[in-house]
Amino acid sequence: MKKIIAVVNQSGGAGKTTLSQNIGYHLGLKNRVLLIDMDPQASLTAFMGLDKLKLKMEQNIYGAITERSPIKVWHEPIHGVYFIPTNQELSSAEIEVSRDVTADNRMRLKTALEEIADQFDYTILDCPPSLSLLSIMSLVAATHVVIPLETQYKCYKGTDDLFGTIANVKKRGHKNLEIACIVPNKYEDRNLHDKEILEEVTKLLQGKVHITEPIPKSTAFAGASKEHVPLALYKKNHPGVTMLQAISDYLEKA
Ligand SMILES: Nc1ncnc2c1ncn2[C@@H]1O[C@H](COP(=O)(O)OP(=O)(O)O)[C@@H](O)[C@H]1O
Ligand SMILES: [Mg+2]
Repeated sequence: MKKIIAVVNQSGGAGKTTLSQNIGYHLGLKNRVLLIDMDPQASLTAFMGLDKLKLKMEQNIYGAITERSPIKVWHEPIHGVYFIPTNQELSSAEIEVSRDVTADNRMRLKTALEEIADQFDYTILDCPPSLSLLSIMSLVAATHVVIPLETQYKCYKGTDDLFGTIANVKKRGHKNLEIACIVPNKYEDRNLHDKEILEEVTKLLQGKVHITEPIPKSTAFAGASKEHVPLALYKKNHPGVTMLQAISDYLEKA
């Protein structure tokens, strides 16, 4: 089965972009993977080493969403992964699309992806830090959701809204959408607060959603992004690499 994975959390800094890039890389070792930058801030585009200012409109996801033009994948894979970059134009896409009251706007990305769905085993959608139309479009297009969760109180409190939004999308005709896993991120096991939040999340969700091993807080993640590479190509013996591989293995079975 082809999987479309939305990496979602309205909280900025949770690790969506980092996780998208890294699970994309690990899944890409054995599969055909497409990564799509759905965030107008274009962090993933930068992490992948592309300059958003040099991108033409037809090279990003914007045209496919607003004008229903054919989706264009970057001409070569980057570290084994196919990619659709973005830039700020995507924020105007959201405004333009919301003006069009005749169409089912939420379906636009799903429809665009149908054209190319067969070419990829996995499509990973790196969502923006909001529950706006771009995130909703991504959830509607997705078969699976991955939720990175910073082990901080404010992020934990935001999960109610996130689960509510996912439940709403399911209720509105996408009942097969599955939460594949929650990935606790930036975890410090010496920090009592992090430990407490992880325990609470586990207590609340155990048996309902798979919670992966927490990814430790480490400056190596920022270092890898700066070098435009996944963690495995930056520090191959970093403990996070084994965890990211395990998350990718889990997603293959999900
Ligand atoms: N486990 C981690 N430890 C330390 N820093 C991290 C970790 N995961 C992500 N980061 C850093 O935190 C920042 C925000 O991560 P990012 O993936 O961009 O989050 P989001 O896409 O959810 O806004 C980035 O600078 C990234 O390098
Ligand atoms: Mg991001």
